[in-house]
Amino acid sequence: MMKRALLTGVGGYLPERVVSNAELSASLDTSDEWIRERTGIAQRHVAGAHETAAFMATAAARAALRMAGAAAGDVDAIILATSTPDQAFPATALRVQAMLGVTRGFGFDLSAACCGFIYALSVADGMIRVGQAEGVLVIGSEVYSRILDWQDRGTCVLFGDGAGAVFLQAAGPAVEPAARGVLSTHLHAQGTLGDILYVDGAVGQRDRPGTLVMNGREVFRHAVTRLAEAVDEALVANGLQRRDVDWLVPHQANLRIIDAMGRKLGLPAERVVVTVDRHANTSAASVPLALAEAVADGRIRRGDLVLMEALGGGLTWGSALVRM
Ligand code: COA
Repeated sequence: MMKRALLTGVGGYLPERVVSNAELSASLDTSDEWIRERTGIAQRHVAGAHETAAFMATAAARAALRMAGAAAGDVDAIILATSTPDQAFPATALRVQAMLGVTRGFGFDLSAACCGFIYALSVADGMIRVGQAEGVLVIGSEVYSRILDWQDRGTCVLFGDGAGAVFLQAAGPAVEPAARGVLSTHLHAQGTLGDILYVDGAVGQRDRPGTLVMNGREVFRHAVTRLAEAVDEALVANGLQRRDVDWLVPHQANLRIIDAMGRKLGLPAERVVVTVDRHANTSAASVPLALAEAVADGRIRRGDLVLMEALGGGLTWGSALVRM
């Protein structure tokens, strides 16, 4: 009998430095008004030199383990979604493993851009279901400030840095649909759309570390369509109705996309978790950071049905439905 992955802990980390729209507009041809109106973003956190993907991931993972009442010895695997790793190798996940004092099991990084956390959660859920691991840290950690062209007003105003983590633990066989845990994940990708959102370099390309390039309108168009499909797919697969969803925890790229998804589900605004106004788009960290905030302030509670969705460069997109 397959096991169910329970989400027993969640935590986040945000860099100390906050950069407001006003601060950006001092050196860039943009305005607080334009950024707020088009995206809902008012500020973002920007990492200092010591706040690397591994550093922030470790802080978020510690918080998730603390909430779960778990220790380093309970961690079998660490799956870390990032597009901004500390090094080409070892995997940032293994730097985190070392900093947490985990001395067994395994870990690896996963690259799926802004949908990375959903992908990582899906892989972890599968490993727990088949008995390959009992305790898995799933982390999204990003320092996009290091891959942004700070002269490009069309992209640099949209992103921020941060990390979010969840701890998944195997629970006994649970087949009833109301049982807690990860109910489903659905993943999608379309590589032919790779050129609408990408980084034009990497460590594998000589002298080209790369900066982020985006066709905002095209990404927006695909996001609204694909995410709406993903929401329906998750509900149909679980035999659930829109009204069954207690919380939408969407990827935080743009308030207009988030609002469209909330309307699609018929959810009142207060049932949609929004952090994009303060965090901007933290890519793979955005969903677990939003989840961490809503759990910490008592909005999301045990037994609530939470729908997460994200879309990112690749294109990659998908959903996860979790009963807390
Ligand atoms: N400040 C002021 N003006 C800006 C600006 C900024 N930061 N960025 C772009 N502009 C200007 C453009 O130069 C353009 O000017 P022009 O008409 O004189 O050429 C104008 O604003 C409109 O640009 P456009 O890109 O068409 O705006 P938009 O309404 O599509 O909004 C985004 C731009 C990026 C906010 C929007 O397309 C978006 O959110 N896309 C999705 C992005 C996303 O979610 N990415 C991450 C996915 S993981």
